[in-house]
Amino acid sequence: MSSFQNTYSWFFKSLANQLLGTYLLVTAFALAIVTFWALFTIKAESTRELHNKLEVEAVHLGLEIDNDLSLDSAKATERIQAAVDRHASKLGYSITVVNKQGHVLAEAGSEEPQEGQNISSDPEISDALAGILGQYRRPVGAKKAEWMYVAYPVRSPFETLGVIRVGIPLTDLNQRLNQDLIFFLEIIVSALITTALISIWLARRVTQPIRHISQLSREIAKSGDITALVPVQRTDEIGELVASFNQMIGRLREEEKLKQDFIANASHELKTPTMAIGSVVEALQAGAAEDPELRARFLRSLENLVERQASLLRDLLDVAQLDAGAKIQWSEDLRLSDTIKEAVEQIRVQAEKKKVQLNIDLPPDHLIVVGNGIQLQRAFINLLTNAVNYTPSNGEVRINVLPVEDGHVDVNISDTGTGIESKDLPHIFDRFYRADKARSRSGTGGTGLGLAITREIINRHHGTISVDSTPGSGTTFTVRLPVKSQIGQEQSKGALNTSEP
Ligand SMILES: Nc1ncnc2c1ncn2[C@@H]1O[C@H](COP(=O)(O)OP(=O)(O)O)[C@@H](O)[C@H]1O
Ligand SMILES: [Mg+2]
Repeated sequence: MSSFQNTYSWFFKSLANQLLGTYLLVTAFALAIVTFWALFTIKAESTRELHNKLEVEAVHLGLEIDNDLSLDSAKATERIQAAVDRHASKLGYSITVVNKQGHVLAEAGSEEPQEGQNISSDPEISDALAGILGQYRRPVGAKKAEWMYVAYPVRSPFETLGVIRVGIPLTDLNQRLNQDLIFFLEIIVSALITTALISIWLARRVTQPIRHISQLSREIAKSGDITALVPVQRTDEIGELVASFNQMIGRLREEEKLKQDFIANASHELKTPTMAIGSVVEALQAGAAEDPELRARFLRSLENLVERQASLLRDLLDVAQLDAGAKIQWSEDLRLSDTIKEAVEQIRVQAEKKKVQLNIDLPPDHLIVVGNGIQLQRAFINLLTNAVNYTPSNGEVRINVLPVEDGHVDVNISDTGTGIESKDLPHIFDRFYRADKARSRSGTGGTGLGLAITREIINRHHGTISVDSTPGSGTTFTVRLPVKSQIGQEQSKGALNTSEP
């Protein structure tokens, strides 16, 4: 029982053992069946052949002695003995002739001489005396060696005259079968060894990379170190697994790099205004505070710097919040027109200050999108702020909404501002990217995070954002959002209708 349990746990301990065990079992089973079948067939064939030979011999002898058998005289018996001796010595068989009562008349080459005895009780003799060909294999003599006997009835037209029994020891045949068996066993053993070697090799090929992967995963889990990769030199499924694992590590490295870059950039961005604040404060302490005009100027620039610092921190917090995905509900039903209206109100003062004209075309009231109102409003504020910021006085900022198509609504925010150089276009959604570095340093620009945050928010609404710009004449951002199913639309229409009468 415990050895069975041991085998059981050995088998399921590793994939290699399962492969090895299964292959060995299947090979051994198949070869055993083949061996059994082959030996069985060889034995049956050889026995039949031998039997035929003995029968032919008996028939030949029968033709020679049938006359003498019917005579039943001493002379005739002598002649029978002579014929028996001749045949037996020629072929090395044992030959026995009995009369119709079953008494031995003549014999030659027997293992145990039975001259004169009545052997009618021997099974092959009794069969033959009854008129049918007797055929038996049985152990004979002191050594109990197996013999094969064929007993042939010699018949006159009226009766059985006697029986000729031809026998041969099966030692040769059995020896040959034993040799065959040994040969087959040798084949089985070498096949099992080959199978074992192949399956061990195969199992190792399969399990080695898997071990490698799990070892590396453990190390990564423990130390967080993602510098190592699993080596791949294969194209099969295991190779694919290793490749995907390495891809995953590659992705982790990218994320890690992005995070490090982000922290480096954020610190740098925070450092610049902080240093500037330090210098202004120093200047004030050094005496600038005495001069009312200077003091007022320095305080204004302090106010600007602090405001800049605050807006950067706001953006950083937004990014962190979006990255962490914390506590933001993304499944509210939002009336798109309300969201846009509120965003526009937030930048109206700024636009008026700059004398930029706002031209707003609101979407129909029944347009519902699913997401987060505050976040979506933030996205539109970012786009509108940019539009106002990058448009000179007397320019125009316009929002227009295209009719719903394929379940999507397109909101265009366009301006008549500076436009964006085509070399900058692919990067403006990257974090901290600003096309005009000097502008932001002077304090008029933003943090370079606005569009990155905007795109993230639009993505969370399952929407897309794209940009089209002509330097010198203006820019259009297009926000495409999925609108809630037609049912929502019907319902809100229905609600309007019922409120009418
Ligand atoms: N409406 C626009 N017109 C011209 N340039 C724009 C406009 N919107 C964005 N940009 C360019 O894209 C850059 C990235 O925008 P954003 O992420 O909002 O950062 P910023 O804080 O500089 O506004 C800006 O620095 C600016 O160069
Ligand atoms: Mg901006």
